[in-house]
Amino acid sequence: MGCSPLSLSQSFSFFLFVFHFHSTISSPISSNYSSFSSSSSHLCAHHLSLSLLQFKQSFSIYSSASDYYNCQYPFPKTESWKDGTDCCLWYGVSCDLKTGHVTGLDLSCSMLHGTLHSNNSLFSLHHLQKLDLSFNYFNTSHISSGFGQFSNLTHLNLSGSDLAGQVPLEISQLSKLVSLDLSDNDNLSLQPICFDKLVRNLTKLRELHLSWVNMSLVVPDSLMNLSSSLSSLKLIGCGLQGKLPSSMGKFKHLQYLDLGRNSLTGSIPYDFEQLTELVSLDFSWNNYLNLEPISFDKLVRNLTKLRELDLSSVNMSLVAPNSLTNLSSSLSYLSLLGCGLQGKFPGNIFHLPNLESLDLSYNQGLAGSFPSSNLSNVLSRLYLSNTRISVYLENDLISNLKSLEYMSLRDCNIIRSDLAPLANLTRLVYLDLSSNNLTGEIPSSLGNLVHLQYLILYSNNFMGQVPDSLANLVNLSYLDLSNNQLGGPIHSQLKTLSNLVGLSLFGNLFNGTIPSFLFALPSLYYLDLHDNNLIGNISELQHYSLIYLDLSNNHLHGTIPSSIFKQKNLEVLILASTSKLTGEITSSICKLRFLILLDLSNNSLSGSTPLCLGNFSNSLSVLHLGMNKLQGIIPSTFTKDNSLEYLNLNGNEFEGKIPSSINNCAMLEVLDLGNNKIEDTFPYFLEKLPKLQILVLKSNKLQGFVKGPTAHNSFSTLRILDISDNDFSGSLPTGYFNSLEAMMASDQNMIYMNATSYSSYVYSIDLTWKGVEIEFPKIQSTIRVLDLSNNNFTGEIPKVIGKLKALQQLNLSHNSLTGHIQSSLGILTNLESLDLSSNLLTGRIPMQLEGLTFLAILNLSHNQLKGPIPSGQQFSTFNASSFEGNLGLCGFQVLEECYRDEAPSLQPSSFDEGDDSTLFGEGFGWKAVTMGYGFGFVFGVATGYVVFRTKKPAWFLRMVEDKWNLNNKKTKKNVARYGARRN
Ligand SMILES: *[C@@H]1O[C@H](CO)[C@@H](O)[C@H](O)[C@H]1NC(C)=O
Ligand SMILES: *[C@@H]1O[C@H](CO)[C@@H](O)[C@H](O)[C@H]1NC(C)=O
Repeated sequence: MGCSPLSLSQSFSFFLFVFHFHSTISSPISSNYSSFSSSSSHLCAHHLSLSLLQFKQSFSIYSSASDYYNCQYPFPKTESWKDGTDCCLWYGVSCDLKTGHVTGLDLSCSMLHGTLHSNNSLFSLHHLQKLDLSFNYFNTSHISSGFGQFSNLTHLNLSGSDLAGQVPLEISQLSKLVSLDLSDNDNLSLQPICFDKLVRNLTKLRELHLSWVNMSLVVPDSLMNLSSSLSSLKLIGCGLQGKLPSSMGKFKHLQYLDLGRNSLTGSIPYDFEQLTELVSLDFSWNNYLNLEPISFDKLVRNLTKLRELDLSSVNMSLVAPNSLTNLSSSLSYLSLLGCGLQGKFPGNIFHLPNLESLDLSYNQGLAGSFPSSNLSNVLSRLYLSNTRISVYLENDLISNLKSLEYMSLRDCNIIRSDLAPLANLTRLVYLDLSSNNLTGEIPSSLGNLVHLQYLILYSNNFMGQVPDSLANLVNLSYLDLSNNQLGGPIHSQLKTLSNLVGLSLFGNLFNGTIPSFLFALPSLYYLDLHDNNLIGNISELQHYSLIYLDLSNNHLHGTIPSSIFKQKNLEVLILASTSKLTGEITSSICKLRFLILLDLSNNSLSGSTPLCLGNFSNSLSVLHLGMNKLQGIIPSTFTKDNSLEYLNLNGNEFEGKIPSSINNCAMLEVLDLGNNKIEDTFPYFLEKLPKLQILVLKSNKLQGFVKGPTAHNSFSTLRILDISDNDFSGSLPTGYFNSLEAMMASDQNMIYMNATSYSSYVYSIDLTWKGVEIEFPKIQSTIRVLDLSNNNFTGEIPKVIGKLKALQQLNLSHNSLTGHIQSSLGILTNLESLDLSSNLLTGRIPMQLEGLTFLAILNLSHNQLKGPIPSGQQFSTFNASSFEGNLGLCGFQVLEECYRDEAPSLQPSSFDEGDDSTLFGEGFGWKAVTMGYGFGFVFGVATGYVVFRTKKPAWFLRMVEDKWNLNNKKTKKNVARYGARRN
């Protein structure tokens, strides 16, 4: 998902939190076998109670070992087990009335924590028939082969208990098993041999639940060997790959068939029509699975008992949307997210009398309008995001959906926008109207929706103030009003929203100070107020729950409150450009051990940086302290295995040398140390950084020769090199010109460089672009710059510079370069800016430069050039300032007429001599490129690089988008996988 495990898990653990405290959601999954009877008048045999007590003692009780997703009532059952009492009466234990044997053990959700060793006394309870140890925490114990000894076992449930390793072959000896559940053990795998044996020997199996067990080597066809009496097969997320078996129709008793989130391919076969007992069918997120119209029709006609159907992301592009209306009238859950449905929205789908949850989002070919009558009044979840279905909010229609709890109409065609009728949907818990074009004020009637937990209105055109009535929404956990035109102060009335965990107001016009209640919210996790007009100090935070804080681009001042450094789970801290934050960065920042992104740039922070900065968080990928007043030396504590991708210290007062430990930053893509007072020689050790794309060392006190490369593949990924304004001397670094491979090839992908773990954080950089110093708030991956200006480089411009064909900007100005202008520069046809000014260049301007049709800026001034200025193509757009201060240039640009014999120079010499075959190997001819595009085009291309800054943390969006995961019992286990045991 492009998201680091850490942030993902934290997102989910956050959900866990929501579940605990804001739960209006129906009961979580609980154990299937929770009610074994335990009535026996027999005193159980001493050795049995001894075994049980030993079992008890082999684990500790740990309250978070049983999570709240899966366990409705986690309870430490073994704690009541006491020596000297009848073990058959113990909680969770059941016995055979006649023999006194322990035949059942139900310790599901019992908070057991510890390793389940193969010599555990459990394995002496040979008479067990039902064993349930689900939802405990066995700490990556392996499943012991001892389980094979329970020869009379009919039910075995070890789900969700953190078991790991391979499922042992011995499980296949349990030939009486009726039900086997090993699901939700992340690190468990099932080998094909074991699966095949299991399948053949367990002929009585009715339920097989192995979701999230790694079965990636098992061939899907081997499922066909399962017992035909199977009634429930749940293999969600097992890594199954390959063709879906073609004749599953033989499993006539199947009621539950859940094969979602695998990599099954092919078409869902016709013979599914024979599975007439099916109650639940899930093929979701098998992205290469097809469903043909004929199969769908058969399925629709024959599966009359179907209650849940999830085919999300299965390709159904040929299925007529209208055929959905023929689905079983028992259907209560239908999810066809991203199925490629095209055509008219089947309004009659609302006639399905039992439909409670409908998800048709991300079917962009689905158009038409919302029906006008007969809206189901049992529908509680409606997701139509990213469709072209027109929804009229202002008529009363929508308010007929009285049972609605979840509604997402994000990026959906909302027609007109009187939101007032929504106020009748008083059961709403989740409302997402983002990315529409809603205008006007946020209606205060939304304050009636007192059950709302999520209110998501970002990217509309809402104006005015936030209505006070929102203060009624005391259950709100997320409020996202970002990217609107809301203004005024953030009202302190909103302090009633004490359950807020996420608040996003960025990209508005809010002014005034940040109200102190925001910093007193007890469980605030995510706060994004960037790009507003907020003023004043940042108050101290009163709680320590923050994971994400972005206050950048406001008018805040003062110091960074020390409480920020106590947010021990903080991953993202962005306080950039808050006008003028002052004070020092103290070493307490190093307590933020989970920090991924730290951006304090464009402030007035001073003092030296704490030495720990290089190694306090292994996850740190962005460190941006540019444009401050920091002093002292750059910390040299960058350790191996760090995750740093972006390091920007530009525009400070750092002294000393460039620390060689930067060499340890193997992930580094951007290094910007420009505009400091660094005194050093050229840092050759950076050559080997395998991912370095941007190196800016400009405006320091670097000196000496730049003679490289010293290693193979040196700087081969570099596409921006700026060492301008230093004291480098000697000849130009010809050796590097031969190895700067990324400058030789253009990149067509117009993507912006961003942080891997927070892809919405795009890198910025300051560059001199076409003679002007600008901040690039985004850096396109296509951009190529070489800037060696303002040094003391001498000698000639080497011919190999013609190899750097992808360069867009070349600046060699203000050196002491001699000789002619290298005609191979004419090959650099991507050049938009060429500056060779203030050197000692002689001779004529080579006519080959006329081929540079993208050239928007040319500066050849202050050299010793003479002869005619080329007049064709781009050259007619340059004026005298490009050429001033030379010996004897002529041409209309300098208002100096050329004499006849002063023909423009073709400088054939430099084309012919030497081994230039590599330079011109690709059929280059200067005539071929003289068909220019004109200046307007150039200008458009050029300005494309400078774009506005918008940052929407993608992970947060995803979190919100995944709301249906939350409330969808099918994936709740999945959620539990990430969230359950993080502590
Ligand atoms: C298994 O069940 C059979 C038949 O009920 C019984 O005779 C046998 O003793 C049981 N074995 C064990 C180990 O409980
Ligand atoms: C199959 O089950 C029988 C008991 O019915 C057992 O004896 C045998 O070992 C099992 N086979 C495998 C391959 O596990």
